[in-house]
Amino acid sequence: MNKERNSNGMSRRQFLQTSAEFAASAMFLSLGSAQSFAAPNTSTRENSIPLVTLNNALQMPRLGLGTMTLNGDVGERCVADAISMGYRLIDTAMIYGNEASVGAGIKQSGIKREELFITSKLWKADMGYEQAKKGFQTSINKLGTDYLDLYLIHRPAGDVKGSWKAMEELYHEGRIKAIGVSNFEPAQLDDLIANGGVKPAIHQIETHAFFQEGKSLEYLKQHGVQMEAWAPFAEGRHGLFTNATLATIGKKYNKTIAQVSLRWHYQRGIIAIPRSSQKAHIAENLNIFDFSLEGSDMASISTLDLNTTQFPEWS
Ligand SMILES: NC(=O)c1ccc[n+]([C@@H]2O[C@H](COP(=O)([O-])OP(=O)(O)OC[C@H]3O[C@@H](n4cnc5c(N)ncnc54)[C@H](OP(=O)(O)O)[C@@H]3O)[C@@H](O)[C@H]2O)c1
Repeated sequence: MNKERNSNGMSRRQFLQTSAEFAASAMFLSLGSAQSFAAPNTSTRENSIPLVTLNNALQMPRLGLGTMTLNGDVGERCVADAISMGYRLIDTAMIYGNEASVGAGIKQSGIKREELFITSKLWKADMGYEQAKKGFQTSINKLGTDYLDLYLIHRPAGDVKGSWKAMEELYHEGRIKAIGVSNFEPAQLDDLIANGGVKPAIHQIETHAFFQEGKSLEYLKQHGVQMEAWAPFAEGRHGLFTNATLATIGKKYNKTIAQVSLRWHYQRGIIAIPRSSQKAHIAENLNIFDFSLEGSDMASISTLDLNTTQFPEWS
């Protein structure tokens, strides 16, 4: 319990060594000034987001803000609020139609670009070598940046190899710091790893208590690809926010179901990008680094797995 709180003053390496639950190498977010990470009435340490080192040595925050459906002024406000609280990883995509709002929120935050970790995604309609380059350029123009930290193939459709080649070139030019995929089947990922020059750094897939993707997690670990969870709350489907098992565990630690869920992802070594339109929820979702779920709690949550998507409409 309370490893981070008790580790005040520890070096990053000491912290890493004492945090046995970390599945991947991690360290506290060290980008930017300490002041910029302090949320009101809380210490900097409580709101520091640990980093994971990707297979190309890039460091990525292990918790971020998802932005799907956060459009217009709402998107701008949520991104600015999240960054002011200490979030540094922001996940968007061309198809969300909110890259300009995300960019405006980033600008409003006043935080330097290099302190942030911005992800966007190449949509199906932009697959192929030429289109992927154009798609990337359109995304960064809307975001108001000249590079992305992470660019993902959103779905394995159309000309994956041509798109990957374009992304590899942008990566080698330093215009994307890491490239990866989303929603790939294992065979499609195998194919990319076998034929591509740059190994995907990230695989972003649906993962939550009701679809735990344990086999994918093992597979990705074996291949040195970091797993990232989309819909870490299953968007509340299947009654996640009223689930009795998660509620009971939450009571034990004085944490909410959302916080238990995010801590569970974190202890599995999975990056999570919860989305919220509410400032209080955005703050709540950040407050997961001052407690640890015991092994028995992790085991209880593992029994919730239905081993099936909660988003059949997207399959
Ligand atoms: N690669 C892909 O194909 C793909 C697919 C889907 C999503 N994504 C990414 O993953 C992100 C997250 O997934 P998602 O947006 O689908 O769903 P999600 O994060 O699982 O759930 C979002 C829902 O949870 C609620 N919520 C958030 N925090 C809460 C809290 N503390 N207490 C109670 N309710 C809370 C939100 O409502 P409030 O707004 O009221 O807080 C919202 O209705 C997306 O935004 C997007 O960036 C990627």
